[in-house]
Amino acid sequence: MTQAEQTPNVRQKPNEMVGNPIELQREGAQQIVQALNADVASLFILFHQYQKHHWVAEGPQFRDLHLLLEEHYTAVHQQADAFAERVVTLGGVPVSGPTAQLQHGYVAEEPEGILDLRQMLSNDIKVNQQILVKLREHIQLARQLGDYGSETLIKRHLREQEMRTQDLMHMLEHETLDEILSNQQ
Ligand SMILES: [Fe+2]
Repeated sequence: MTQAEQTPNVRQKPNEMVGNPIELQREGAQQIVQALNADVASLFILFHQYQKHHWVAEGPQFRDLHLLLEEHYTAVHQQADAFAERVVTLGGVPVSGPTAQLQHGYVAEEPEGILDLRQMLSNDIKVNQQILVKLREHIQLARQLGDYGSETLIKRHLREQEMRTQDLMHMLEHETLDEILSNQQ
């Protein structure tokens, strides 16, 4: 028996709405909740991907990468947490389980077994870029709907995520330590 079958008292599902205490019109709030829930889901997919890369990173830059990826997954988790709490403020319910997050997210899960360092970092950059594009769309949506609180929240995290994406690009530049060492052999 699944947990859902054991729990018949389903009160409110993701993207279903109740009123909110901040005087935002419910229809507009629902559009923002859908957008933020898609972000929450995608951020958690990225979080899991980062965790894996933190676990399996190896080579001459192991320590730097291991620590950098920990910084990134910690920041992404805080970002997802802030967005999920905004969903609640707006009168919605955040997507929380991994199955629902894969359904609501707009980024793909990295297949198991990918362990090549450059490929993993490229995948991290790609997912970050996909999320950045959506965040800019969601800033516009929030502004159009007069939800300046969500606009401000997304903008703050957009800037931080842009910087993390730039960090990853730097790690993939040529003249990395492993290339220099292999050229000396
Ligand atoms: Fe760790």
